[in-house]
Amino acid sequence: MDRIRIRGGRRLVGRIPIGGAKNAALKVMAASLLTEETLVLDNMPHLADIATMRSLLGQLGVESVIQKRTMTLTARDVTSTTAPYDIVRKMRASVLVLGPLVARFGRARVSLPGGCAIGTRPVDLHIKGLERLGAEITLDAGYIDAKAPRGLVGAEIVFPIVSVGATENLMMAATLAKGETLLVNAAREPEIADLAKCLVAMGARIDGAGTDKIRIEGVPALHGARHTILPDRIETGTYAMAAAITDGDVELVNGSYDLVAAMAKTLEPAGVEVTPTADGLRVRRRNGRLTGVDVMTEPFPGFPTDLQAQIMALMTIAEGAAMITETIFENRFMHVPELMRMGANINVHGASAMVRGVKRLIGAEVMATDLRASVSLVLAGLAAEGDTVVNRVYHLDRGYERVEDKLAACGAEIERIKG
Ligand code: UD1
Repeated sequence: MDRIRIRGGRRLVGRIPIGGAKNAALKVMAASLLTEETLVLDNMPHLADIATMRSLLGQLGVESVIQKRTMTLTARDVTSTTAPYDIVRKMRASVLVLGPLVARFGRARVSLPGGCAIGTRPVDLHIKGLERLGAEITLDAGYIDAKAPRGLVGAEIVFPIVSVGATENLMMAATLAKGETLLVNAAREPEIADLAKCLVAMGARIDGAGTDKIRIEGVPALHGARHTILPDRIETGTYAMAAAITDGDVELVNGSYDLVAAMAKTLEPAGVEVTPTADGLRVRRRNGRLTGVDVMTEPFPGFPTDLQAQIMALMTIAEGAAMITETIFENRFMHVPELMRMGANINVHGASAMVRGVKRLIGAEVMATDLRASVSLVLAGLAAEGDTVVNRVYHLDRGYERVEDKLAACGAEIERIKG
């Protein structure tokens, strides 16, 4: 298993390119199942999760070709409608093939994802929503077995809580349902609007994606299209924290201010400036100092849970205290004990972590537990005195492309140790 070694204390100065959003790319890939024609996707990131989705689609019979950052997907000869446990267990987003498969083929068998490191993360909203659209669903031997032999029928679906994945699965399913579907209390994440844009290019009729009410008028069939994936706001936010934690000055090329506005507004009182530039965003401290600020994660447009671990790393060396509250996932504080091994002062009470800033972190050997937790340890390592070794880097590779190259290009002392 690869490890990453960082010698901390170097300011990051330079430019970091931001790739296409993993969490949009995965869903748009699943959308290729909705048509027999070819979908062409540009600005695709090169990530382990994207390879996993490609392999799942390949098992279903979808043909795909990658050339640089362009992927073409053709689901003409779909030979299977089963997403097996082996893949779903590895990547929860696999469950996003459920809606498209039932909508186009009238059947799907998708493994239940089971537990994961950041909580129980059920898929009940996906299942109940599909039932509302007329699918018959049974749970059998750890699989979701969905059938709709006469096709899906539009309905009004009111989500009791905001779910990104359930909104996307049902939006995709509804594109081929008979009549109109209304999704109420839908998630508003930009990746949902991006998926809707792609679906509309494929001939779907969708209104209101990006708001909490999405209206979909079903059509008999979708067709091929070409779509460019939007920039990754979590990658953008992560490198913004990297600039801030090292007292650096970094331009995030292709980063979009609008996509990270909640983070920029949180960082402002902390003493970090995020300003739009012609090519993206520039991030640096205002006057060298970093001040503790309170943060609460919320669905978009609030502060993203996927940046919670990173801002906690930043707050470990801020002046004063920061109360960080996680409202989306239970058990998303696995980075806390690892940050504490590096000298951070953190107390967890339920869903909140009180971080009291320390003068400096000290490098240590630490363990990555999930994607965002692991990158928070890299950030801590950039600011720490001495060497930090992050184990289980495969978590990082799921969502960050060439993280060590991008940081090294700005002056970080960082290397991957193969093994
Ligand atoms: C997506 C993102 C993930 C991000 C999360 C929240 C992808 C591949 N992943 O995950 O990076 O952290 O949004 O922004 O895009 N829930 C239920 N029942 C369900 C579905 C969800 O109770 O059927 C709960 C979850 O346990 C969680 C909350 O709803 O507490 C939000 O989860 P959701 O928005 O669905 O997250 P994902 O789509 O899995």
